Parts: sequence; structure tokens; C-alpha cells
Amino acid sequence: MTEPEPVPEPVPGPVLEVASLVKRFGTFTAVDDVGFTLMPGASLGIVGESGSGKTTTARVLAGLEEPTSGTVTLAGETVTGRSRRDRLRRARLLQMIFQDPYGSFDPRQTIAESVAEPLRLHAPGSRKQHRARAAELLDQVGLSRRAGQSPPRDLSGGQRQRAAIARALAVRPRVLVLDEAVAALDVSIQAQILTLLEELRAGTGIAYVFVSHDLGVVRHITDEVLVMRHGRVVERGATEHVLRTPRHPYTRLLLDSIPSPDWDLDRVARDRVARDRRALDLADRQATPAPKGETTC
Ligand SMILES: Nc1ncnc2c1ncn2[C@@H]1O[C@H](COP(=O)(O)OP(=O)(O)O)[C@@H](O)[C@H]1O
Ligand SMILES: [Mg+2]
Repeated sequence: MTEPEPVPEPVPGPVLEVASLVKRFGTFTAVDDVGFTLMPGASLGIVGESGSGKTTTARVLAGLEEPTSGTVTLAGETVTGRSRRDRLRRARLLQMIFQDPYGSFDPRQTIAESVAEPLRLHAPGSRKQHRARAAELLDQVGLSRRAGQSPPRDLSGGQRQRAAIARALAVRPRVLVLDEAVAALDVSIQAQILTLLEELRAGTGIAYVFVSHDLGVVRHITDEVLVMRHGRVVERGATEHVLRTPRHPYTRLLLDSIPSPDWDLDRVARDRVARDRRALDLADRQATPAPKGETTC
């Protein structure tokens, strides 16, 4: 008797592939040659200070913006290079969570109704089934029945973020892009939301692109990280490794900017930040001569 041939494990491909992404606004390049792949269940951080191109990258991933060049492929389907309507439809497997979702909830609807809305639009089934599924989703993110029956204004920031996550999950996305999703929350609430996200990832295999200026938060929730500066990826790698042994001076600068509870240390860090800042600015000015005929201010 011969042993049966071992059945090869299916090799799942990346759920998101981003290649050579460029986004210009007029002559200004907000995103400059950004590329990465994301496997199912992976969590990638995108860090960088304000203005480094993180949100623009996220909006391109979500189909909200067409890139100037480059491609976004989601679960094997190319999202870019299509009409806005087509792009958004194909990008539905990728859902975005913003810093404060308040404005994205209809103030006249209860939270449960808002969570049921994407089901009504995109899922088969009756109203009753949608209501039941919405209740399940609210339960999954740790919101009470009572919170579900409330209008968005009656929820706390943390509860609203849970509701936004429930609504995003309604269409069974493969990827969540979280843009500064916990930035407006108190530290203890941040920790609760990060724990929820970790549980969801473990339970569903959903993948995250976690955009943040806060390296402390990114350390908790991501396996890999891209460091962006002026639209470019200046450093990438395993999160622990990059944060422990940053190679790029800009990554060190970001790390130094994490507030320390120790005042003296903080002051030392601040001085170092100021010094690094000047060095980086100088290097930039030397690297990019001002274009002819344009002022630099
Ligand atoms: N619609 C737009 N038109 C012109 N410039 C923009 C637009 N959106 C973003 N930018 C510019 O692109 C740069 C990157 O912005 P953004 O992606 O929001 O950075 P981040 O999220 O890292 O703070 C900024 O200088 C910003 O002013
Ligand atoms: Mg941003």
C-alpha cells in the first residue's frame, strides 16, 4: 500500500496588494510610490506625523480617491482605474473607520438602525433578518441592547467607535482600514477598543491597515509597520524590530516624540526631537532644490 498523496494546504494569496501608488494634488505629491501586500488576518501599521500622506493612502485604498498612478488589488480584483461608482463598489470588501464617526451616523436613526443600513442596501434577507443580524453585530462589539436603541448623540466616543466597527463588519469585509481610529479616545478606552480589534481579528481573520501617528498604539495592534514621511515609505519591517532598532532618523524622531511620563526624560527627548527635526529639514532642503520659478513658501 502506498501512502495517499498529501493534500497541499491551500496557499491563500494576499487580500490586499498595493503597488507603486502615487497621488498628486496639482503639482504637490501627497503619496509617492507606496506599495505593500497584506495577508488575510495580518495587521499593518502606517505611521508618520501629520501631513505625511497616511490619510490620502487610506482614502485611495477605500476607493474614495483615484490614484494618479499605481494599483490597488483587493481579494484579487483591481479597484483602481475605474469609475468612482465602480471603484467604490469593488472596494466594499475594505471598510474604513475614521477618528470620530459621529458625522457618519444619521442623527435620526438609532444605532441599531444605522448598523442594519448596509445590510438593507447590500445583503439579501428580510427586515427581520437584518434586525437580528444587526443585534448580533452589536453584541459582537460589546454594545448593549440599550445602546443599540439610542441615537448616536447618546453614546460615548468609545461606544460610537464600537458602533462604527459593527456597521463596518455588516458587509463582511476582508480588510478594515482604521485611520486614527482611537486617537480621540481616552487611554483606557483606547485599550478597550484595541482589545476588541484583536479579538475580532483572531475570531474572523480580518486584516487591518492601522493608520496612526501614535507609535505606542501601533506597537500594540500591528505585526508590521510602514513609516511614511512626505508621502514616501522611509522604513518598513516587523513592528517590534522597527520600534526597537529604528534605522531611519525620522523613525527615531517619531519614537522620541512619544510622551514620557518622566518630565526630565521628556525634556531630553524634546531637545533631541528639535535637533533631529533641524537635521532632517536641512537634509530635505539639500535634497530637493526649489523648482525654478516657484517660491518656497
Ligand atoms: N484634497 C487635497 N488637495 C490638496 N492637498 C491635499 C488634499 N488632501 C491631502 N492633501 C495634502 O496632502 C498631504 C498629506 O495629507 P494626509 O494624507 O491627510 O496626511 P496625514 O494623514 O498623514 O496627516 C498634506 O500636505 C495635505 O495638505
Ligand atoms: Mg490623517
